[in-house]
Amino acid sequence: MLGILDGKVAVITGSSRGLGLGIAQEYAGAGASVVIASRSQRSVDEAVALIRSQGGVASGMAVDVADLDQMKALCDFAINHHGSLDIWVNNAGTAGPYGPTIGFEPAEFTQVVNTNIMGVYHGSLVAMRHFTQQNSGKLINMLGHGYNGPVAWQNAYSASKGWVNSFTKALAIESKESKVGVFAFNPGMVLTELLTNVDVIEGSEDRLKVFPTIVRMWAKPPSIPAKKALWIASSATDGKTGLLVNIFSPWTMLTGAIAEGYRCLFHKPDSGIDFQIKPIPRFKG
Ligand SMILES: NC(=O)c1ccc[n+]([C@@H]2O[C@H](COP(=O)([O-])OP(=O)(O)OC[C@H]3O[C@@H](n4cnc5c(N)ncnc54)[C@H](OP(=O)(O)O)[C@@H]3O)[C@@H](O)[C@H]2O)c1
Repeated sequence: MLGILDGKVAVITGSSRGLGLGIAQEYAGAGASVVIASRSQRSVDEAVALIRSQGGVASGMAVDVADLDQMKALCDFAINHHGSLDIWVNNAGTAGPYGPTIGFEPAEFTQVVNTNIMGVYHGSLVAMRHFTQQNSGKLINMLGHGYNGPVAWQNAYSASKGWVNSFTKALAIESKESKVGVFAFNPGMVLTELLTNVDVIEGSEDRLKVFPTIVRMWAKPPSIPAKKALWIASSATDGKTGLLVNIFSPWTMLTGAIAEGYRCLFHKPDSGIDFQIKPIPRFKG
């Protein structure tokens, strides 16, 4: 059976687990050859083996998106291994700790900037150079909470996603005369380690008390946003660029809240999500 991404080659950064792995599985299931990339070679190898065991075509490379040379090497790796490059998803991201901005270790703040901002810049640079030259391709940049406005106690993360939104719109304008598609994607809340393993700066723990309820109400498994990411990468968006695709809607919020209300009212067991909320010292330097 023909898949809607047959013959396409896709690089997905941050695809050893979570949403990136979900997108890689979805693309591979639709016939694409996928390139897995994250910092740990072992997790890359495991993700590649998983996709191959599901009948997909996959290869992988350990890269840190914060390093431009490694991202150039990733682009070359994809082309050398699979013969072309058609789709690039800048998905790798990190949340940083939850808490007041001045309580962050500067190194933790820099890590968010290097991954979420510089990583997206590096990925966009190498992919767009290639796409512009061949006059085709799709670039997908991952948004997140705060892409459309400030979020207190998640300042590094939300500000980085605001930057990604603005950067992606400008890239789309600059390339609109070409056949290259540039897209921003907000996947909503996704059940991944980023959401369930949270470092909280000491003193801010109370603010996270409602967090498990919010996650239960609104978080979806990676396979749901991954299907939307497949749509963006498919020919359905040929001729389009500059779209902001958002799957977090008032309807999602309403149905999630109703389901949680029902659960509480009828004393149903919760979904058993394993939250790891770890207090970390406040920066005092
Ligand atoms: N989960 C949510 O609710 C949610 C909501 C909105 C948007 N998003 C966005 O979706 C994207 C994926 O998030 P997720 O929830 O799937 O996170 P996750 O489960 O923590 O996975 C993050 C992935 O990125 C990789 N990664 C992290 N830093 C990297 C770096 N410097 N270089 C290369 N790879 C790196 C990780 O592997 P290594 O650690 O081995 O490198 C892992 O594969 C992020 O951009 C996030 O902001 C998530």
